[in-house]
Amino acid sequence: MTDRDKFKSKIGVILATAGAAVGLGNIWRFPVETGQNGGAAYIIIYICFILLVGIPVMLAEFVLGRHTYSNPIAAFRQLAPRTPWVWVGRLGVFSGLLILSYYSVVAGWTIEYSYLAITNAFDGGTPQDYKDVYNSFVSEPILPIIYLVMILLATHFVIVRGIRKGIEKFSMVMMPMLLVMLLVLVVCSVTLSGAGEGLEYLLKPDFSKITNKTVINAMGQSFFSLSLGLGALCTYASYFDENTRLVKSAFTIGLLDTCVAILSGFIIFPSMFHVGHHVNSSDIGPSLLFVTLPNVFHEAFDEIPLLGYLFPVVFYLLLVVASITSTISMLEIVVTYISEEYKVRRSRASLFVTFISVVIAVFCSLSFGVLKNFTIFGMTIFELLDNMVSNLFLPIGGMFFSIFVGWKMKKQLVVAELTNHGNLSMRFVSVIIFILRYIAPIAIILIIFNQLDIISLLS
Ligand code: PFF
Repeated sequence: MTDRDKFKSKIGVILATAGAAVGLGNIWRFPVETGQNGGAAYIIIYICFILLVGIPVMLAEFVLGRHTYSNPIAAFRQLAPRTPWVWVGRLGVFSGLLILSYYSVVAGWTIEYSYLAITNAFDGGTPQDYKDVYNSFVSEPILPIIYLVMILLATHFVIVRGIRKGIEKFSMVMMPMLLVMLLVLVVCSVTLSGAGEGLEYLLKPDFSKITNKTVINAMGQSFFSLSLGLGALCTYASYFDENTRLVKSAFTIGLLDTCVAILSGFIIFPSMFHVGHHVNSSDIGPSLLFVTLPNVFHEAFDEIPLLGYLFPVVFYLLLVVASITSTISMLEIVVTYISEEYKVRRSRASLFVTFISVVIAVFCSLSFGVLKNFTIFGMTIFELLDNMVSNLFLPIGGMFFSIFVGWKMKKQLVVAELTNHGNLSMRFVSVIIFILRYIAPIAIILIIFNQLDIISLLS
């Protein structure tokens, strides 16, 4: 394995891995979930899950990846030969392919919305206009497909350049840019009149709003947001070097990811309150980004036209960048696997996976238009894949990663990875192992049962 590529710098490791984590999940799903689940109280529970389950499961993936220096399937095969554990790796790689396909559809929409923002197409529209633009765009057969192909090709071109020259270099440029764009937007949004109410909504918890559903959603969201359960982080960790501090990196990445999610709330809610939107209304659903926000941005800055123009431009470009740093990690899981298992060049493996992904993504995209009525279990193709992967495959994968590292892997190997062979403090090690053994699997099994409606925690 000596000829395997590696991340070059510590900051490269952090930015690339945070890039995998930061994505539509932070800037879109998190504010939607926060809006639907009662604001600050949801955020507090979310943070507890990040600390109690998310970061330990991330560490389980890191330990496995860095210890074996291989893709998730080979990692399980190496540590537990001729056992069914290899299927956890297979499920992860398969989930990576599926998630790449449906995620790139929405990522593609962000290109169209950047274009609309740049050409000032949001100017002067009524709320109904925004709705019509969205509905007619997503149901169109060709344009969204062109965009998803653009996203997948951009992802492919980063991946073929490898870890150091591709993923690391791209993230070193894009992630700081993303953070700057985010902070600029936060400053503009929180200085709007009436922003205080939006901030209060995010910062002042109302615990009476917490239900079992809030807790379960927060856990699912923390998994999706940190990209856990499919071996993306295990794959990235297989490119870390022996000096990378796993515990410190996991905390930094968890912190960055959570800050980006909360700061996205700082962008969205103050501007919504400024124009008098109510957060619990239907505008806070999935159409938040593409129907509500164009309207909000347009109204929010009507006195300062230049800002009214620039704000959405920067916001949608931010989404494009955040999406691509995530799709890169999804493609990387599958490419690492195929190139190592079948001994093919990365460029070939990537071309092959990109092609398959385009095919699946085309069906996902058409499920908003001509295939809208083609449903399986009452869901369109897009909804089926999203539900299956985010609600089932990721938690199942995460649970097995934590059980494997908590119970099956030799404890001294786990300790050696977490402490860089005794060179780092043991401070958190026993807590992490305890969580991986007991807390994470039990918590995750509860979400899975709930998703499957085996037990109705909601009643
Ligand atoms: N964490 C990404 C987001 O928040 O948008 C989504 C994601 C990326 C999930 C990579 C899984 C993955 F492997």
